[in-house]
Amino acid sequence: MKTICVQGLGYVGSATIAALSNASDINGNPLYNIIGIDINSKDGLERISNINKGIFPFGSQDKSLSKAILKGKKEKRIFATTEISYFDRADVIVINIPLDITWDTKEPYINFKKFKNAIYDIGNNMRENALIIVETTVPPGTCEKVVLPILLECFNSRGLNIDGLLLAHSYERVMPGPDYLDSIINYWRVFAGYNKRASDVCEKFLSSFINVKDYPLKKLSSLTASETSKVIENSYRAVNIAFMEEWGLFAESVGLNSFEIIDAIRMRPTHNNIRRPGLGVGGYCLIKDPLFGLLSSKQLYETEELAFPMSQLGININSNMPNNNLNRLNLYVGGLKGKRVLVLGATYRSEVDDVRNSPSEVLCRGLDKMGASWDIHDPFVDSFENLNKDFLQEIPAANKYDILILTVDHNFYKEFDFLDWVEGTKIIIMDTNNILTEELCKALVSKNFRLLITGRGDLK
Ligand SMILES: NC(=O)c1ccc[n+]([C@@H]2O[C@H](COP(=O)([O-])OP(=O)(O)OC[C@H]3O[C@@H](n4cnc5c(N)ncnc54)[C@H](O)[C@@H]3O)[C@@H](O)[C@H]2O)c1
Repeated sequence: MKTICVQGLGYVGSATIAALSNASDINGNPLYNIIGIDINSKDGLERISNINKGIFPFGSQDKSLSKAILKGKKEKRIFATTEISYFDRADVIVINIPLDITWDTKEPYINFKKFKNAIYDIGNNMRENALIIVETTVPPGTCEKVVLPILLECFNSRGLNIDGLLLAHSYERVMPGPDYLDSIINYWRVFAGYNKRASDVCEKFLSSFINVKDYPLKKLSSLTASETSKVIENSYRAVNIAFMEEWGLFAESVGLNSFEIIDAIRMRPTHNNIRRPGLGVGGYCLIKDPLFGLLSSKQLYETEELAFPMSQLGININSNMPNNNLNRLNLYVGGLKGKRVLVLGATYRSEVDDVRNSPSEVLCRGLDKMGASWDIHDPFVDSFENLNKDFLQEIPAANKYDILILTVDHNFYKEFDFLDWVEGTKIIIMDTNNILTEELCKALVSKNFRLLITGRGDLK
């Protein structure tokens, strides 16, 4: 049985282990032993410990992930460790570690140090002819200008045959949420190899656990093309959100309902993925990936000419979204100072337990600054580590608050009976994510509740 090492056991790496655990041949026999490798940090050790107990390390509605990890663990095919010497057992090494932007400097930039060290960990331990697949989202050019030179250096210093260096890039389109595992197995995948052999071996490996019959692979001509493809996908989405944010502000100021308009536009197949106004953009990818074009040209290709103005503006507009919401609310209620606020929703999107760069957190910080007090609830998480604030376990009575802010469209909130909950109170409601149905909005307005909806003018 072949052995696969997955470097980085986060949202992508852990799900990749689950997908590989389920891979089987035509007779149903499992294909892989899987070794997960993470670092000696609080998160890393926690993830390792969970996987070694047969537990998927993140809360998810998709129970197939836990099942897959447990199956691999019971069959003694999965284990996780911090020990990098295990890379020497791998036939395939999948890289799922982060590559972050440093923001606290005059100009954002990428410090490649940790990423490079992780590649050295591989190069100093791996065998010849093991396939290395970079899945980390990277600035275009990283595989050829950063990863490859390190691996060549390691191969040379270890006296390994360079013909046995097989490097590929392929990116995940993982969507944590109800279809988490499916977003790996039943989804289209792009890849490229450094040379024909690497490309062929990568294609064979991806075909062993992805349903390529229904979701054929797309081979690109170079590693850099594959890296660029991922960065454009995420930048496109981020810029699309920023574009609709300005129309949402227009709708609010002139009294339109942007959701009604967007639904009409979405009927046109060429425009069916147009985004909607909301509280803001969070998570790990969309807040940084649009800058990877700019940083690639500056840091890897050393050209200052390409400014990527649209991508930069998109990031700036998106990062202002929570504050736009807050400022509007502040005006609407005649000042937030002293107000008691209940925030419902903390994660960066619905049905996940991920609070990385959550716009709700920015909102809560803003409430603090404006002198409001706040409580927060989320069905998937119980604290914001950065804010040292424990979450409510249940939604308390409405009469404890002056304002309710709905932030995340979890099904839990969509199904909650707000009409009953607000009865007998004068609570002001702000819906930042189009969570309340039109019928419910009308019912609330007819009962004289004050209702503020992001992307929509005042309700009469
Ligand atoms: N989260 C998503 O939905 C998603 C989707 C597509 C692509 N991506 C990309 O996939 C990559 C991973 O994202 P993620 O969300 O899984 O990140 P994550 O932060 O959840 O996980 C990364 C893991 O890598 C570990 N790690 C860091 N350095 C390491 C090292 N040297 N050796 C071994 N492990 C190390 C960390 O401890 C962490 O557990 C990123 O490049 C991201 O942009 C993410």
